Amino acid sequence: MSAVTTERKGDILVITANNPPVNALGFDVRAGLEAGIKEAQGDSTVKAVVIRCDGRTFFAGADITEFGKPLQEPGLPTVVNMIEACEKPVIAAVHGTALGGGFEVALGCHYRVAVPSAKLGLPEVKLGILPGAGGTQRLPRLAGVEVALEMATKGSPISAKQAKEYGIVDKLADEDSLTDDAIAFANDVADKRPLPVTSQMTANAEAGVFDAFRKANARKFRGFEAPEEIIQVIESTYDKPFQEGAERERQSFMKLIMGTQSAAQRHIFFAERKASKIDDVPDDIQKRDIKRVGVIGAGTMGGGISMNFLSAGIPVTIVEMSQEALDRGTGVMRKNYENTAKKGRITSDQVEKAMGLLTPTLDFDALGECDLIIEAVYENMDVKKEIFGRLDKLAKSGAILASNTSYLDINEIAASTSRPGDVVGMHFFSPANVMKLLEVVRGDKTDKDVLATVMALAKKIRKVAVVAGVCHGFIGNRMLMPRQVEANKLLMEGATPSQIDKVHVEFGMPMGPFQMADLAGVDIGWHRDPNRIEDVRDALCAEERWGQKKGAGFYDYDEKRNPSPSPRVMEIIDEWRAKTGTPQHEVSDQEIVERTLYPMVNEGALILEEGKAQRASDIDVVWIYGYGWPVYRGGPMFWADTVGLKPIVDALEKHGFTVSKLLKDKAEKGEKFN
Ligand code: 3HC
Repeated sequence: MSAVTTERKGDILVITANNPPVNALGFDVRAGLEAGIKEAQGDSTVKAVVIRCDGRTFFAGADITEFGKPLQEPGLPTVVNMIEACEKPVIAAVHGTALGGGFEVALGCHYRVAVPSAKLGLPEVKLGILPGAGGTQRLPRLAGVEVALEMATKGSPISAKQAKEYGIVDKLADEDSLTDDAIAFANDVADKRPLPVTSQMTANAEAGVFDAFRKANARKFRGFEAPEEIIQVIESTYDKPFQEGAERERQSFMKLIMGTQSAAQRHIFFAERKASKIDDVPDDIQKRDIKRVGVIGAGTMGGGISMNFLSAGIPVTIVEMSQEALDRGTGVMRKNYENTAKKGRITSDQVEKAMGLLTPTLDFDALGECDLIIEAVYENMDVKKEIFGRLDKLAKSGAILASNTSYLDINEIAASTSRPGDVVGMHFFSPANVMKLLEVVRGDKTDKDVLATVMALAKKIRKVAVVAGVCHGFIGNRMLMPRQVEANKLLMEGATPSQIDKVHVEFGMPMGPFQMADLAGVDIGWHRDPNRIEDVRDALCAEERWGQKKGAGFYDYDEKRNPSPSPRVMEIIDEWRAKTGTPQHEVSDQEIVERTLYPMVNEGALILEEGKAQRASDIDVVWIYGYGWPVYRGGPMFWADTVGLKPIVDALEKHGFTVSKLLKDKAEKGEKFN
């Protein structure tokens, strides 16, 4: 079936695209739209045109898989210009998501009719590019510079209702009769002239609006090239003739699309989707029905985990050992929801609805009615084994038994039950109701349908799930370890905590290793004997420098938790440098990169070599969504490709690391990870 068809409805020509799954504007669709417009132009009995899409959505954008390949004419800007130049009114009938090039097609139309559930947006910035089919030109003219700046630099779609308020959508249609409503609208405006041609409109901007916007968003845009490019394009062209602006847009589009940041961000777009696929598990495998989830532990993790399910409308039974812990845990959950409501992100009805799905209890046996039970107690193998032994006796047949452990051996936990096939790791990241990553840990005996069920459920609770094999720390935390070890060594050799952290922040990480230690708690995993001091960390802990919560850690903190370098910490470090006789040298920023980030790449390569991750791109997804690795660097393995594997291997060897065989082989053959 052809990607675009036309049909007459009285005086109206209806052009319908059908290019599953999301009606991306690939060559066939563009050519079809061009032909449809030509047909309307050439037929004097056609009075107006409706452009609509079959399937779940209006055009979701340019076809990203065509990027980097030679363009097959007609290009999208040509098609959009042609739609706008049509002498008969063209009406876009929008449902689902009109995104990127799809939104630009709608902007090229003379009118837009949308169902209330539709969303419209310019997400190109999330792919490291800018709207390249007139979006930076038409949106400021139609909705104003400020709306255009907001939508094009942040990439979040707006609702059809909001779009109507901005003057982008002309009419809201009935949810069930979009095509008919659009045709009726087309009949109404068929004879109306002049046509509203967006590119001919003028845009105004208040003085100082661009700089104010830059300033307000400086933190958000830090490190990214595309947002600033978008601001510059709009700033330099909003009051110029359309053609001049369109040319500038094209130049910037080409510049960004050839750049590394865009390649990295497009890599992550596809990597995220690929991560949900498990090589030896068919997509259509029968999944288990999860109607109720049980969570053991109402601490920070257990509470956060529960909120994910409650927010998705799935009832949760949460179990604790004491009424006090239970009350505290549920109180925190309620407070979190109420804070979100205060920010206007959810309504108070939604708060009550979510909390209404929660059953707090001290009765462990209540877990017997759950289809998935997630254990979120503290990290102790004996405790976990005891819990899983109990679960084995009470959980219903076919229930999935999951552990939220961040390091421990899932096989050993599974062996404490008579049903290891039902056991899986579900490693959430803190705060669990916010962080997008879920590491799904596949035990040696985990059943395939258990994995498939958990992966599908992850999508339902809006997590990005990645499958990891059983190893200490799985993918993410395992790669964190060599970074921390080296950061500590660098301290002893002459670097300061602030220098090491600064290098990581400049690289684009939200924080460096010592800032992270202070946030998480320097005392995590500490032996708790203030008289046993064997390294800098022990010395800090002995003085109760446990991090932000104590107002002191590797840094000193004021009441607002602003950090400043600590003279006391430097004294302790100096003491230990002298005590251990560590030779001192001037540590350069480059050395910090080579000794803290390259070993992560090496560990990632080892993880792949051992088959603990399915693909390099899965490792990238873990680091982007679990640890805030800058998306414009595409994750550690993609980044390694951009640095070059050979220089990485050389530097690792120079610093005395044992290099993974896979990394070495790839470097020698001139191959990449992705
Ligand atoms: N091009 C090519 N493939 C696309 C695509 C696109 N624009 N958008 C989605 N797909 C593919 C996905 O890769 C996925 O493929 P798979 O099934 O093989 O993994 C499939 O379509 C379904 O996508 P999702 O799993 O993401 O489906 P959802 O229903 O969860 O989400 C969506 C739908 C909201 C449309 C989401 O896919 C999305 O955000 N897509 C990208 C939108 C976008 O970035 N558009 C701008 C493109 S750039 C552009 O238009 C440039 C222009 O200015 C010139």
